Amino acid sequence: MSIVVGTQNEVFLLSTENTSYAFGIDDQGLVRHLYWGKKILSAEELEMPVLTEVSTNDPVYEITPEEFPVHGGLRYKEHCLKATFADGTRELVYRYCGYDVEEGEDWEELVLHLKDDHYDFYMDLHYRLYPRYDLMERNVVLKNQMEEPLQIEQLHSAQFHIPYENLNFSNVHGHWGAEEQRFTQRVSYGKILIENRRGTSSHNHNPYFILDRDATETTGEVFFGALRMTGNFSGVVEQTPYGETLVQMGINPHDCLLQLDPGQTLSAPAILCGYSATGFETMSHNLHRFALDQVMSKGLRPVLYNSWEATEFHVNCQDQIKLANKAKELGAELFVLDDGWFGERHSIQNGLGDWYVNEGKFPNGLEELIDAVKGLDMKFGLWVEPEMVNPKAQLYQDHPDWIYHYDTRVSDTSRVQYVLNVTKPEVQEFIYNMLDNLLTRYDIDYIKWDANRPISQTGPQRDIWYKHIQVIYGIVTALKKKHPHVLFEACASGGGRIDYGILGIFDDFWTSDNTDAYDRLYIQDAYSRIYPIKAMRAWVTDCPNFLSGRMIPLTFRFHSAMMGSLGIGCNILKFTPEEVELSQKMIRQYKEIRPVIQEGTFYRLDNPSADQYFLYEYLKGDKGVLFAFLPQSKVGHRGTTVRLRGLEEEARYILHTSQGDITKTGSYLMGHGLPLRLSGDYASALVQFEKIP
Ligand code: GLA
Repeated sequence: MSIVVGTQNEVFLLSTENTSYAFGIDDQGLVRHLYWGKKILSAEELEMPVLTEVSTNDPVYEITPEEFPVHGGLRYKEHCLKATFADGTRELVYRYCGYDVEEGEDWEELVLHLKDDHYDFYMDLHYRLYPRYDLMERNVVLKNQMEEPLQIEQLHSAQFHIPYENLNFSNVHGHWGAEEQRFTQRVSYGKILIENRRGTSSHNHNPYFILDRDATETTGEVFFGALRMTGNFSGVVEQTPYGETLVQMGINPHDCLLQLDPGQTLSAPAILCGYSATGFETMSHNLHRFALDQVMSKGLRPVLYNSWEATEFHVNCQDQIKLANKAKELGAELFVLDDGWFGERHSIQNGLGDWYVNEGKFPNGLEELIDAVKGLDMKFGLWVEPEMVNPKAQLYQDHPDWIYHYDTRVSDTSRVQYVLNVTKPEVQEFIYNMLDNLLTRYDIDYIKWDANRPISQTGPQRDIWYKHIQVIYGIVTALKKKHPHVLFEACASGGGRIDYGILGIFDDFWTSDNTDAYDRLYIQDAYSRIYPIKAMRAWVTDCPNFLSGRMIPLTFRFHSAMMGSLGIGCNILKFTPEEVELSQKMIRQYKEIRPVIQEGTFYRLDNPSADQYFLYEYLKGDKGVLFAFLPQSKVGHRGTTVRLRGLEEEARYILHTSQGDITKTGSYLMGHGLPLRLSGDYASALVQFEKIP
C-alpha cells in the first residue's frame, strides 16, 4: 500500500519506492503539510504540531505549511486559489469533508475533499502516486455546484514545502535561438518568480522547479516538480521568515480570469513532482522513465531530413525531389517539407492561412513530391502554422474578425502575422478541417506544427491565455485519433513549446533553431535534466552556422545531433563525396544505436579534467554508448578520465574505441575509469560498448 491513513484518520502518508510525502488535517480543519523526503515507514510516528501564534503579527496561517493555501483570513503568503463569489465575497474558507482512494495499473491516488464553509464550491486535492517511478502528481479539481458563476483570479495547482533555507533554485532562461540556458541561484529572502506571459512560448523560462541542497549529479537532496501545461504558467519560490522554503506553480494569474459556471468543473494542470536523495541524476532518470512509459507516444523516432535551412521559402517540386533523393542516399527515413509550399508564401509577408498548394511551385500538385518520396521508401512530412494568418492572406480578407484584436486599436503583427482566436468555434472548425483534409487527401506521415509569435490583444475574455492551448491540445488529439499513424512535431520558433503538458499530446519536439553543435551541447544538457532524450530533436546543419558563424567539423556536428533524435538540415546537394560517405556512416551507426539513445538511461558523466570535456553515456540492457566532446584543446592538451555509470560491477564489457577494443569489468570502468584524450578543436568521439555474455 502506497497510501497509509493514520488510525485517527487525520494523517496521510504517501510513499513511493524510496520517498514519502505526508500531510494531515488538524483540529481546525487545516490541511497541513508534514513531510517530504526519504521514505519513512510508519504514519503513526507523524505528529501534528500544535499551532500557536508566534505573535499577534504572525498569525497561525503564516507559520504553518498548508497543502493548498487559499486567499482568505489572516493569510498573507502566496496562495494557490483566489476567487470571487457572485455576491462579492472575496475570500475562501475550506472545510475538510473526507477522502477517497483510487487505484490504477501503475498508480494509487488519494483525493482529499474540501468544501467551502458556506458556498457549494468544492476543491478536491488529488495526489496520484507512481511508486515505481518515485513520482507523484498533484493537482486540484474545482467544482461549482452553486446557482451562480464564480470568478477565479488565481489558480496554482499545488504548494510544496521544503523545511530548509539557503536552497539552490535552478531553471533555464533564454530567447529565440538561445533556449535552455541553465541557471542556478541561491534562494534567499524575497521571492523568485518564473513565468511566461506570451501564450505560446517556453523560450524564456520552463515550467518546472528544481531545488537542491548543494547536490551534485549523484549526491545530495533534490526536490523537483514539472507542470503539465503549455503556455502562460507561473512559479513562485519563497524562503519564508519561518525557516522553510515554499514553492508553487500553475496557471499564470497575469491578465487571467477564469469563470466557473454553475455545474462546471475545472481541473488545474498537474505538477509531476519528486524527491531525490542521490542528486540530479536520479531526478532525471525518474522523469525520463516516466515520460517514456507513461506520457510520450510509443515507438522510435525516424531519422528525418528537413529542407528548411537548404531552401527556406524558395521551394519548388523538382529541387525538393532532388533533396529527397539525396536524403535517401544518406539514409534518412522521413522527408519533411518545411515552410513555403502553400498559398502565396514566398517570404514571411504572405501565405499563412491560405493552406492550398502553390501551383507555381508544385504545378502537378503535392502528389508529385509525395509520390517521389514514397517511391524512395521514405515517409513524408509537412510544415504548417495553423494558429496564424498573414494580413495579406485571403483568409484574413475573408475573416478579419477571426484574429485576437481590438476594433479601436491597430492589430499587432509579429513576423508579419496575426494570431487566430482559436477559442471561436468557427476558427477551430477551420483549423481542424484544414488539417484533416490535408491528412485525408495526401499520404502524410508527419506534421511539423509551428507557432512563430506570441499572443496579444486577447480581447475582453481574460481566459484566453489558458483556453488557447487547451484548444490546440484538443485539435491535435482529435486529428491523431482520426489519423493515428501521423506523428506531430511541436515547434514554436524553435524550442518555444516544450513542457510536460505538450509531451503527452505531440510526438516530436523541436529543441531550438540554434543548431550550432557547440551551443547545442549546453542546450541539450539543460534539456536532459527534465525532458527525455526521445523528445529532443537535433539536426546536423551547414557551416558556417547561420547563427554563430562557427565552423565545426562534420563529425562533431553529427555526434552532437546523435545525442537526441537525429535529423539532417543541411543543403545536402552541396555535399562533397567525402561528406556523403561520412553522413552515410554516421546515420548507419545512429540507426544501430537508436534504441539505446532514444529509450536508454542517460548519464551526464563527471569530467575530472581541467579541459572542458563533455561526457555522456547511454545504457539500455547490455548495450551502451559513450559520447565525448572537446570543443577546444587548452595548453597541455590534457586528457580526461571517463568513469562510466550504471554498469554491473562484476560483468565484463567490451568497448569498441577508435584505437581498438578494450575489455574491462564494470567495477573498473565505474571506479578507475577509462583514460581518454582528444586533441584539436571540436574533437569528439563516440564509443559503443556492450556487456560480454
Ligand atoms: C520557425 C521554425 C523553423 C522553420 C521556420 C519556417 O522559425 O523554428 O524550424 O520551420 O519557422 O518559417
